[in-house]
Amino acid sequence: MKKNVLLVLITGVMMQFSVSCTKPIPADLSKVSLIPIPVTVKATGSSFQISEATTIYVQEGSDELQQTASLLAEQISTITSIKLKTEVVPQSPAKGIYLSVDAANKQLGEEGYELNITDDLVTLKANQAAGVFMGTQTIAQIIEKAGDTQKTWIMASGNIIDYPEYGYRGAMLDVSRHFFGVDVVKRFIDQMAAYKINALHLHLTDDQGWRIEIKSWPKLTTIGGSTEVGGGEGGFYTQEQYKEIVQYAKARFVTIVPEIDMPGHTNAASVAYPELNGAKKKAEIYTGTKVGFSTFDTRQEVTYQFVEDVIRELAEITEGPYIHIGGDESHVTKEDDYVYFINRTRDIVKKYNKVMIGWDEIAHADIDSKDIVQYWAKGENALLGVEKGAKVLMSPAKRTYLDMKYDSTTHIGLAWAALIEVDAAYTWDPAKLEKGIAKENILGVESPLWTETVTTVDDIDYLVFPRIICHAEIGWSPASHRNWEEYKLRLAKHGPRLKAMGVNFYESALVPWEK
Ligand code: ACM
Repeated sequence: MKKNVLLVLITGVMMQFSVSCTKPIPADLSKVSLIPIPVTVKATGSSFQISEATTIYVQEGSDELQQTASLLAEQISTITSIKLKTEVVPQSPAKGIYLSVDAANKQLGEEGYELNITDDLVTLKANQAAGVFMGTQTIAQIIEKAGDTQKTWIMASGNIIDYPEYGYRGAMLDVSRHFFGVDVVKRFIDQMAAYKINALHLHLTDDQGWRIEIKSWPKLTTIGGSTEVGGGEGGFYTQEQYKEIVQYAKARFVTIVPEIDMPGHTNAASVAYPELNGAKKKAEIYTGTKVGFSTFDTRQEVTYQFVEDVIRELAEITEGPYIHIGGDESHVTKEDDYVYFINRTRDIVKKYNKVMIGWDEIAHADIDSKDIVQYWAKGENALLGVEKGAKVLMSPAKRTYLDMKYDSTTHIGLAWAALIEVDAAYTWDPAKLEKGIAKENILGVESPLWTETVTTVDDIDYLVFPRIICHAEIGWSPASHRNWEEYKLRLAKHGPRLKAMGVNFYESALVPWEK
């Protein structure tokens, strides 16, 4: 063979080799089991490969975007063990992953995003950084191994346009009945954010424990925070720790909503400061689980000095717009006294430039379009709130209470509202639940976890997952996209993902979990 013929042959083989090495691996974006399901997904049949050489580029000029890029790099590293670099750039690169804010598409709103994946370039853009963050959570779900035997990590190619149905998608953690420390709360925030939940309501006070430092009333925590259900040691967040939670949540576009439950559910406060309940009956430390026995004396000024001090201090360390004032199950407060209390407390919340949220009973007070009624028990209360112009936060106990048992055999949890299997958590529509409460009246959906029976992180996981994922989809995805038979197959694919995240979830027999 002549030398130059050999050269041509070798070059040909090498070219083929190099082409086959970088040749995109076919993949189908429409088959990726995304939760919440996006508004539109268009697959193009190819894929973007993630390797050590991939860089996450960030449009210059935004600290929030840079933080989002760093969190995405961490998330990708957890999934793939590949550590990606991040780099700030003035414009879109030709290759890599590029995050940018480009307020050009009104349809996307505050949290929507557009994700475009080609063989060379992944572009994620949104009107605001919040939308880019939501898109990064979609990226984390798209990343997959190419085939069972290959070590290559890919993202199936195509285009996703996505935005939420409701602006408020929340979870609530009761840290009063059992106290959970800062690390547990951070872990919970990460888990929530992975499914585009954007609000964490902390139920900070109840009969059994006061969990937030109030500097002007120090015995609230030293005495009121000293125990919990069952007589354990309780605990509380210092204001510094609370601020740390607020910042951690903020970086993940989660708003902290603090609740001070009043005028009932206040035994712990009255043990610390007996004047608060008028000292008609001396309050004792309480470690049981009954509800509805405590109240503030709502007709004396010291109560309002207390409420103002608490709300002022809390408002100062809370960046989000809301303060939740509880208002539920005040069974031993006279109706007139209750309404008087909510009205005065509402004025104090407004004075500190916050929006008041309260459980559905507050609809009996003089509320209006600036207030939020959290529907948990009574449709008629929520409807009364709507008639007064308030927005409704949907937490119907029969569908969203994460402390309800799945079935009669569930080893923890309660059953007073319902047994809530995974299908029951999924198959409802906030806008169709109550006649007279339409989508435009609804702020969003929130899933509360009350912790009377919840003592460990494993307990939290078991009751929260997978039901919170169902609620996350209800809050984010259009009702027309939701179908239990199809959803349960998508959810099944999240089993390995939850396991990889170390989540002790309930493996419902209704879901054909992927192993
Ligand atoms: C509630 O479950 N008492 C709001």
